[in-house]
Parts: sequence; structure tokens; C-alpha cells
Amino acid sequence: MGILDKHKFLEKNATALLVGSLLVVSVGGIVEIAPLFYLENTIEDVEGMRPYSPLELAGREVYIREGCYVCHSQMIRPMRDEVERYGHYSLAAESMYDHPFQWGSKRTGPDLARVGGRYSDEWHVDHLRDPQSVVPESIMPKYGFLEDKLLDGKYIGDLLKTHKMVGVPYTEEMLENAQADFMAQADPDSDYDDMLERYPGAQVRNFDGKPGVSETDALIAYLQMLGTLVDFSTFTPDPTR
Ligand code: HEC
Repeated sequence: MGILDKHKFLEKNATALLVGSLLVVSVGGIVEIAPLFYLENTIEDVEGMRPYSPLELAGREVYIREGCYVCHSQMIRPMRDEVERYGHYSLAAESMYDHPFQWGSKRTGPDLARVGGRYSDEWHVDHLRDPQSVVPESIMPKYGFLEDKLLDGKYIGDLLKTHKMVGVPYTEEMLENAQADFMAQADPDSDYDDMLERYPGAQVRNFDGKPGVSETDALIAYLQMLGTLVDFSTFTPDPTR
């Protein structure tokens, strides 16, 4: 008896039971949520991650606009079949500068999180122009029209600013030089040393092999960067995180 008799009161009063349940659930909720307010960061710091270069960011815009994420994921799960096919499982840090993230939810085509460096630029140009010409059974649509859409990077600084607003640490220097960096990365004859200092490891090439900076240039610059920023030969996961 004793305490069980008191519980009878809760069982016989719907309102008291409701208030009691709410109280219990709130305590559980606070215990789970409150620590997150005191953590500065829930993402493990990983060497090599940097904000996307202006050209890569422009390519990412094309990727989103064309709906590539509808057929492609960018998130390798830590399961053996995925790791053997695509490489090291994705780290939270690898999407820390993605707004919005590009994990996707369906794989009609393969995961692209580590597609950078897997194919040559020429392969990408051919594949985007006519996927069936390199993978006969492919059902991927053609994106050859992107080659004819030239970009001048006039508004790329504004795009960097927008990403800065949502937390990407672009510096004043990066914002000021956004358009110049944008053009420099697609032109191997340009003076791209400063750009490389701001975006270590950025690949400088004429990606589509044609004059001018096209949407294909930007898209391939983005694809060739995916999964290449973190060096997994030296990376060791921190088991305490
Ligand atoms: C309708 C679904 C669909 C859409 C939309 C789509 N793809 Fe694909 N993609 C595929 C399929 C299927 C494959 C596998 C066959 C092949 O290589 O073409 C593929 C393959 C690829 C590959 C080669 C990946 C690898 O590891 O072999 C790349 C790169 C790629 N797609 C990029 C893109 C980009 C960039 C876009 C947007 C401009 C895009 N795809 C849009 C279906 C799609």
C-alpha cells in the first residue's frame, strides 16, 4: 500500500495523469537536450576541410538547380558494402560547409561523395553531354547545354556573402576577391597563387577545354573536389566524439 495508493489518485484523475506525464517527459527531454546548448560544436574538427572556392560553389549551385541530388546521394554509410564501393564513410565535417546539405535520399545513380579524381575532366564532359556514350546502360539525362551557358562570376561574391551569413567562415579577403578567384580557377594561365592560398587544394584547370567559364566548368570543378579535401591516409577518427 502506501505509495501505490497515492498512484491510484493519478490513475483515477485524467487531468492529474496528463500533468504528471508531461512533467516526466519534460525531465527526460531536458536531460537529452540541455547538454547540446553547452557544446560549442558537435562536429569533429577534421584537417583539410575548407569553405568551397567560388568556382566550386557556383558548380554546387548548378548541381542543386539541375536536381542532381534527386538521383545522387553524397553520404557514404559506415557499412562494408558502401565503404568497399565508395571509400571511407562520410564524416559530419565533410558537409559542414554545405547549406543545404547534399546527402540526398535516393540513389538512382551512384553516391558522389568521393567522385573527385575518379574520372578525368574529359570523361565528365563526355558523360554530361551524353551519359550513354560512356555508360551505355545509363539512364542519366543529358546536360550538354551547360557548356553553352557562360558565367562571369558577377554575383558570386553575393553568393559567398549569403553562405557567410549562415555560418561559412568566408573572410573579407575571400569576399573581395570572389570574382577574380572564380575566373582564376578555370584559367591555368592566370595568376592563381593567391586563390590557392585562400582555398588550399583547389584544382586549377580549364575543365571543359573550351574558352570562357561555363556552367560545365563550374560543375566539374565541384565534382572533382568532392571527397578530396580530407586526406584519409592520415585521418584517424576520435572515438571520444
Ligand atoms: C535521372 C537520374 C539522374 C540524374 C537527374 C542525374 N544522374 Fe548522374 N547518374 C545517374 C545514373 C543512373 C548513373 C550511373 C550510370 C552512369 O554513369 O551514367 C549516373 C552517374 C553519374 C556519375 C558517375 C558516377 C560514378 O561514380 O560512376 C556522375 C559524376 C554523375 N552521374 C553526375 C551527375 C550530375 C552532376 C548530375 C546533375 C547535373 C546528375 N548526375 C544527374 C542518374 C542521374
